[in-house]
Amino acid sequence: MMTEHAKTAALVKGMVDAVKIPVTAKMRLGWDDDNITAPDLARALEDAGVAAIFVHGRTREQGFSGTVNLAGIRKVVAAVKRIPVIGNGDVTTPESAKLMFDETGCAGVSVGRGAFYNPWIFAQTRHLLATGELQPEPRFEERIRVMCRHLDLMVDVFTEVHGCRMFRKVAPWYSKRFGPVNEFNKKVVAISSRAEFHDVLERYLRWRQQFCDGDGQLLPRYAPPPMVASFMQDPASAQRSSIPVPRGPVEVW
Ligand SMILES: Cc1cc2nc3c(=O)[nH]c(=O)nc-3n(C[C@H](O)[C@H](O)[C@H](O)COP(=O)(O)O)c2cc1C
Repeated sequence: MMTEHAKTAALVKGMVDAVKIPVTAKMRLGWDDDNITAPDLARALEDAGVAAIFVHGRTREQGFSGTVNLAGIRKVVAAVKRIPVIGNGDVTTPESAKLMFDETGCAGVSVGRGAFYNPWIFAQTRHLLATGELQPEPRFEERIRVMCRHLDLMVDVFTEVHGCRMFRKVAPWYSKRFGPVNEFNKKVVAISSRAEFHDVLERYLRWRQQFCDGDGQLLPRYAPPPMVASFMQDPASAQRSSIPVPRGPVEVW
């Protein structure tokens, strides 16, 4: 679709004409570095009637490797006449959201994987943009409180059995920011009930004490390194620390 603009625009126009709600389009920058087609496609889709464009600042060839290209997103912003362009890719901190706004002129930023690890990123970003002040990372207790609430809500929506099974993959996103976490991750991926989850959690909290000071605070040498967006690092370390994605080619996710 990113290389056949006339057909893509016709398809999208059919959709726009068929429904009463706004239709938005999500794209990458292009097929590969030699085919950065997003600006032209965005313009064609604006003419086809889409209400907004979301753009992940990587090419299809890049997959999830390498750095998000802010200059590429800026070109998409410049290409459209009226509709908002929302930038996307590797926003893992409030500072990186702000940089994406500042460098690209985009109307919004969308956060995917960064929100898995840091569901507070939306409130923190809004605060940074409004006040210029960077809030401290949430305390461990707050992370635990929100993780438990997340499980409660999943149980409400999906029932206890399915909610707990699905939560097996959610809990390790939270635990990525807990410090030493081996014991927790090994056990939480086998929970089948809320009671089992709380049992795993209580055991983990006792185990974690060995890494804490007398006040129960994690000793600095065990603290996880700060998260830094790929486009705020040098390219070599960006490659090493890229946020994990599911195994296998993007096509089969
Ligand atoms: C597990 C997973 C599933 C995704 N599914 C979709 C999808 O269905 N549609 C889509 O447009 N993008 C999808 N994406 C891409 C994200 O929307 C986003 O463009 C990409 O992850 C880069 O943003 P991020 O670094 O904030 O995660 C998916 C990404 C992941 C990791």
